Order: sequence, then structure tokens, then C-alpha cells
Amino acid sequence: MANTILVGAQWGDEGKGKIIDVLTEQADVVVRTQGGNNAGHTVFIGKQKYVLHLIPSGILRKKKICVIGNGVVVDPVGLVGEIEGLRKLGIKVNGNLYVSETAHVVFPYHRELDAQREVLKGKNKIGTTKRGIGPAYGDKAARVGLRMIDLINAERFEQKLQIKIKENNEVLKAFGAKPLSFKEVHAVYRKAGDYLKPFVTNTVTLLHQSVRRGDDILFEGAQGTFLDIDHGTYPYVTSSNTTAGGACTGSGVAPNRMDRVVGVLKAYTTRVGEGPLPTENSEIADMLHAMGREFGATTGRPRRCGWFDSVATRHATMVNGIDDLAVTNIDGLDTVETIKVCIGYRDGKKKYDHVPNDVEVLSRCEPIYAEFPGWRTPTHNARSWKDLPAKTRSYLKAIAELSDAKLFIASVGPGRDQTIFV
Ligand code: IMP
Ligand code: MG
Repeated sequence: MANTILVGAQWGDEGKGKIIDVLTEQADVVVRTQGGNNAGHTVFIGKQKYVLHLIPSGILRKKKICVIGNGVVVDPVGLVGEIEGLRKLGIKVNGNLYVSETAHVVFPYHRELDAQREVLKGKNKIGTTKRGIGPAYGDKAARVGLRMIDLINAERFEQKLQIKIKENNEVLKAFGAKPLSFKEVHAVYRKAGDYLKPFVTNTVTLLHQSVRRGDDILFEGAQGTFLDIDHGTYPYVTSSNTTAGGACTGSGVAPNRMDRVVGVLKAYTTRVGEGPLPTENSEIADMLHAMGREFGATTGRPRRCGWFDSVATRHATMVNGIDDLAVTNIDGLDTVETIKVCIGYRDGKKKYDHVPNDVEVLSRCEPIYAEFPGWRTPTHNARSWKDLPAKTRSYLKAIAELSDAKLFIASVGPGRDQTIFV
């Protein structure tokens, strides 16, 4: 499989968890490189549902090494809970999970500040997951963060945390929020630190050894291209580089060691949280929600839904260097009579064939649509390309061509067997 970077080509929730699980079969190592427990990757194995937030989905397959890279922000209490949850379901988490010693730690004051800033923003709120992701990356960039290596060193941690709690309590008080107790945070975090100590290591040299051995490494992206801190719809974004470059900086594996980029996209578009979504459409949203689909894996929020936006996905191909496409949730469109695909934007007289950087402009943009006849046949039982209705195949070929990359996988349901290699 070679070294593959997998990214979301839309606004997150493209079904990456399942595609990663499928591709992991051929990988030796799976690495998370950015984001934190704001992510929610859902994987079904048989009837059992697994929702992973920090641990790479690769953990569900035997004999795979899973790495939480330096670019991730780790909520240690959340991570302990996730490990325990997997162990309860009979999944082995021992000797197969490594956490970077330079990954930054998410603290309760990050979560509290995340929530307080959203309140302050009022109607301009971002709609964050309130997991403290933005403030944690903020501290990292401001060089005032604590890293995993600090958390597992009892003496150093106590000193550093004292200063952090003192400073952040002043900020919280200014927001009118309740200050935190050093003693409580310290006790909880030290316990998590001791629990996690055996997992914490130098993942850069570990991955380098893996590269030298010729292992196949899968870099598991979280969120999606338009939530990228640089390339997304700022400020309605998350605080990490969700695009392909983030896999290099977030793991310490160099760009010339990467072989291929896979972009995951839904056959339509969804977004959770605020910010522009040019093809948003209540009809398709109501239809998908009535089917019980499109509720957030992390927060349970109903996702906003719209038609496939090829302006966005073409842009994603450009900034990520996407070679291959994995199209998911094809079965979500099974009942639609006429399927629309956005092929351009219009803002008054001005037309766009790329995503404008100004979110105010993007929010005003009206989609220009092409129409495709729906196949109106259940597709969830299709197991090969020729099992798919001809109209489905034409639709998939068209969106791949419009997205400027090669169709690689067509997914017709959450199950491993509902994956068609094209
Ligand atoms: P944050 O990452 O919690 O700061 O949230 C920032 C924005 O990214 C919000 O619009 C969230 O809904 C969105 N977001 C964060 N993580 C995910 C994800 O895993 N899937 C989809 N959207 C996400
Ligand atoms: Mg998700």
C-alpha cells in the first residue's frame, strides 16, 4: 500500500473511519497527526459499533501499530477512557499504541475557555465541539503549553501546572467563569499521566524506523479540508492543519517519504457547526435525518446537509494533492429523483470556479448546479462495480472527474464488506 495520507475532502465526517479501517488491512502502522478528541470516527464491525476520538481506527485490527503523533492535542482523561472502553469490548490495547511525548495536553481550562469564547461570540459562534481544541493549540503556538512528556514527569508537571492554573484562573474570572482547583486538576491528571506513561514515547524515531523497514504507513486525517486552520473557511474552522501537509508536520515523517494521498468524500455534503456551506439544502437534510443519518459522532448534533459541491472537492484535490477518491454514503442518495451537483458559484454577476477565501463572499455565493438522474434503487447490497446501477456509476464517474482525481473506492454502507474497489 506504501505510505498513504488519508484526508477528508469536505467539512469532516466524510466516513474516514470506515475507509481507514478498510485500508488498515494492508497497513502496518496507522498514525493520527492532528486534531484531538473533537474527532469522531465511527466504525462498524459486524453489528458492533466503535466510536473513536483519539486512538487511530487501526486499533480494531490485530497486529497493527497505532501512533498518536506530535501534531495531536491529547486530552489524557479522554484517552484513558477510550483505552478502557476498547478493552471492555475485548480490543487489545497494549504494545500496539504509542503516544508522542511532544503532543500537547488539553486541560479543563482549555475546555472552559472554548465554551466561554463561544458564549462571547454570540451569534458569530464557531459551533465548536467544546473539547478545548482551539485554546490548546493556541497555547502550543504561544509556547505556553504542556506536553505529554511534562504530564508523565510528576515533579515537573506539578510546577508547570501550578503556574498554568494560576494564570488561567485569572482569565476565567474575567469571563465570569468559575476558577479551577489546582488540587483537583492535578490529582486527575497525575492519575491519567501514570496510566499513560507506558504508551508515551519518541514517535518520530519510532516512525523513522518503520519507514526504514519499508512498512506501509497510513496517516489518518481527522476533520476535513474546509476545517483546516489555513485552507478552511476561517474562522469557522478547527485549529489544526487537516490537509495533507499536516500529516508530515504532525508525525515527523518527511514529505518525500509519502507516496499517495487518498481523499474521502461523501456522495453529498455535510457540515456540523457554523460557517458557510454553499450547497446547504433543507430538503436533502430532512430526507437524510428522516433516514436516521447524519447526526454527529462526537456531539450528537444533526449535521447540516447539502448537494455534492465539486467546486469544494476540486479545491481539496488541489491543496491536498489527492490522487485517489473514496466516495462514501452513496446509499444515502438511493431515493432521490434528481441529484444536483454544484459545478460553480455565483455571487451577483461574479462567477467562481474555486472556493473564495473571503467567508463573507462564500456565504453569499449561490451554487450553479448540474443535474443527474437518480438511480432510485437500493445500493447497499452492491459488492462490485458492476452490481451498481448504471446511473450510480455515471454519477460517481462524474463527481470524480469534476473533483479532478481518480475514483478508487465506492462505499455503500458502514460495513467492511460494503466497500467496492473500483
Ligand atoms: P473544534 O475543532 O471543536 O474547535 O470545532 C471547530 C469546528 O470544527 C466546528 O464547526 C466543529 O463542528 C468542527 N469539527 C471539529 N471536529 C470535527 C469532526 O471530527 N467532524 C466534523 N466537524 C468537526
Ligand atoms: Mg466524524
